[in-house]
Amino acid sequence: MSPLIYLGIETSCDETACALVQDGRKLLASRLVSQTEVHKQFGGVVPEVAARRHLEAINILLAEMFEEANLPLKDGLPQIDGVACTNGPGLIGTLLVGLSTAKALAWALDVPLLAVDHIQAHVCANYIGTDLEPPFVALVVSGGHTQIMHFKSYTECSILGQTLDDASGEAYDKVARLLGLPYPGGPSIDKLATQGNPSAFPFKEALVEGLDFSFSGLKTAVMRTVENLSEPIPIADLAASFQDAVNRALFRKTIKAAQNLELTRIVLAGGVAANSDLRKKFESAPGFTLYRPPLSLCTDNAAMVASAAFYSGRVAPLTIGAYSRGYQIAQ
Ligand code: KG4
Ligand code: ZN
Repeated sequence: MSPLIYLGIETSCDETACALVQDGRKLLASRLVSQTEVHKQFGGVVPEVAARRHLEAINILLAEMFEEANLPLKDGLPQIDGVACTNGPGLIGTLLVGLSTAKALAWALDVPLLAVDHIQAHVCANYIGTDLEPPFVALVVSGGHTQIMHFKSYTECSILGQTLDDASGEAYDKVARLLGLPYPGGPSIDKLATQGNPSAFPFKEALVEGLDFSFSGLKTAVMRTVENLSEPIPIADLAASFQDAVNRALFRKTIKAAQNLELTRIVLAGGVAANSDLRKKFESAPGFTLYRPPLSLCTDNAAMVASAAFYSGRVAPLTIGAYSRGYQIAQ
């Protein structure tokens, strides 16, 4: 079979990204612009600002990416096999920028439009440049999601456990703000925690049944602790102790899920999968084969979208819309 090249487009939050991926595994070219610096002053993503930035960036990034890939041309147009785009969950205004661009390209190039779920795409980042095959257990940890998933095949998956309140990335961001650290909070805590003692404050894991999580109590515990401390606040110790409590819960329940299903392959996905302590905890677990994307493919990117399109993309009509919450994944 001749190779299939998909273009992926990602604009669900504050990264504008496009990438060309061959057969779901081989990254041919990519471009990404992060808006972190723009939103830093507001302490979080401002949707309208983000959408405008996507609009300014996307055509330039696509032109640069196609130039770098240097694909064979037909009637002066690059030859690809499909245009994939995240159409949810995410910010509606930002999603529509990517989706409208994808629709126009699919129509102009006369190739299928493929709709991709952002969560499924995060997991598919683990196929890029690897030999990973289902079945496996995936821990998806991002700004909006925290869930343990069972991927039975490339197209069938189910949710085994999820957060009952805050997502893990959200908890990182909120606690970072509390400690006066810059946005985005996760990387700030990760960095500072390397100078702190994770046992300084014995924050407890929330007592939640089964494979579900809860992080809002932990966030409150950090807040109460800060209120009762006198200056100077030991923010490195607080960051390390908070990080350890979040990651212990994520680690313990993911391992339990894999053991329950007698699966040895564990996959980490999403922005929080970039966390160095979380990676270390999983790297030292004996008896499991661990897959975690390089840092550039943990946070939002378009290579994961093109890979997801190859394995589980839904061919979509040009009238398809975007969704802000929930899932549109194979179950
Ligand atoms: O997957 P992602 O880029 O976007 C969403 O789909 O939400 O994840 C962003 C989240 C943010 O909450 C950010 O603070 C967190 O991932 N994050 C981290 C790290 N890098 C990003 N959290 C902990 N440690 C990190 N190194
Ligand atoms: Zn994401």
